[in-house]
Amino acid sequence: MPINIDQARYDTPATREILHFNNAGAALMPTPVLQAQLHHLQQEADFGGYEAAADADDRIEAIYTSLAKLLNADSREIALVENATVAWDMAFYSINFAPGDIILTAEAEYLSNHIAFLQIARRTGAVIEVVPSDEAGELDLDALERMIDRRVKLIAITHVPTNGGLVNPAAAIGRIARAHGILYLLDACQSVGQLPIDVAAIGCDMLSATGRKYLRGPRGTGFLYVRRGVLEQLEPPFLDLQAVTWAELDRYQMRPDARRFENWERNVAAQLGFGAAVDYALALGLPDIAARVEQLAEDLRHRLSEIPGATVHDRGRQRCGIVTFTIEGKQPRDIVAVLRRQNINAHASAASIPQLVPPPRRLPAVVRASVHYYNTEQEAVRFAAAIAALR
Ligand SMILES: Cc1ncc(COP(=O)(O)O)c(C=O)c1O
Repeated sequence: MPINIDQARYDTPATREILHFNNAGAALMPTPVLQAQLHHLQQEADFGGYEAAADADDRIEAIYTSLAKLLNADSREIALVENATVAWDMAFYSINFAPGDIILTAEAEYLSNHIAFLQIARRTGAVIEVVPSDEAGELDLDALERMIDRRVKLIAITHVPTNGGLVNPAAAIGRIARAHGILYLLDACQSVGQLPIDVAAIGCDMLSATGRKYLRGPRGTGFLYVRRGVLEQLEPPFLDLQAVTWAELDRYQMRPDARRFENWERNVAAQLGFGAAVDYALALGLPDIAARVEQLAEDLRHRLSEIPGATVHDRGRQRCGIVTFTIEGKQPRDIVAVLRRQNINAHASAASIPQLVPPPRRLPAVVRASVHYYNTEQEAVRFAAAIAALR
C-alpha cells in the first residue's frame, strides 16, 4: 500500500516549520518515537530508573524482535549499542588478526572504519587492501574476485557511503565472501531504514547501523547484527557483566547470543524510542519507503541538474535518497548556512579521503541533501528554487 504522506507528515509536526533534507544526518523523529521516550523518562522520574526498566522489560525485549524482523534475522543475533561506530567496532575488534592477514575494503569506506583498519594493521601486521571502484563508482566486483586469496580474512565495506548517493552491491559481495569462506562486515549505517535489508540474502556475517538516520530513531542508539554461525569465532574486545557470567574464580562464560557485544548500562528511554522507530518503519513497509525515497531523490537530482552552475555528483547503478551537488564558486558550508536561515536543512559533506580514492574518482566537498519518504515534491521544488536563487 502506498505510504499515506499526509499521515506521515502529521506524525512529524516539524515538517510544518522546516524543510528537512538532512535525513542521512539525523531524520526527524515521528511522534510515537518521541512519545515512547518521554513516557519512559517520566516513568524514571516517577518510579526510579531500575524500576522503570523492569516495568518496560517486555518492550525492551520486543526491540530485538522488531530488529530481527527488519533484517530477516533471529533476535538472538542482535545487540543494542550506543551508535553505529560502537556496533562496527565491537564486530571488527572481535576478529583475531594475524600478521599477513588481508582486510579488503572499498574506496568509499567510512573514515572511522579505515582508522580502525590502520590501528589493527599496526598492532597485528594485518594488511589493508583497497578494492578499486568501477566506472559507476561502485566497488568493482571483478577486481574484488581477483584480489581474493587465502590470506584474505575480512571483507569490510560500506553499503551506502557518507557522501554520494550510490548503493554498493552488498549481496554480490556477499556471494563472493561466502564462496571463499571469508568474514564479511557490512556498514549499513546509511541504508537501514531507507532500503529493505535482508541479511540472509546479502550474506553478511556482521552488520552495523545507527538509529538516528533513516530509521528516524533517537540519537545515541545503534545496533549490531552477528550471524549465529560466526558468533563463536568472535571475542568482543570488552566484556562486562552483561556479556558474560562469571562461573568460577578464574573462568567466565560468554553469553551464547549477540548480546555479548553489549554493555550493561544504557539509555533505556532512547532504546525504547528506537524500538518505536523500527516498528514505525515496519508498519509502512521498507519496499514502499525505498520506492518513495528513490523517486523523490531522482526528482531532486533532475531539478538541481537544471540549475546553471550546479553539478550533481551521485554515481552508481542503484542510487538512494542521498543527493549530492556543488554550485560553481560557492562553498558547500556557506550554501548550507544560507539554507538554514530559510528553515531548510541540508548538510555539507567533506571531500573523498585522498589517501583512498585516486584523483579521477575523488569527490569534492559537496552539499548533501538527503530525502525521506515524508518529504514532498513541493519541497524539492522549493529547495531547488532556493539553490537557484543563490547565484
Ligand atoms: C557510513 C557510515 N558509517 C558509520 C557512521 C557512524 O555512525 P554513528 O555516528 O552512529 O556512530 C556514519 C555516520 O555518519 C556513516 O555515514
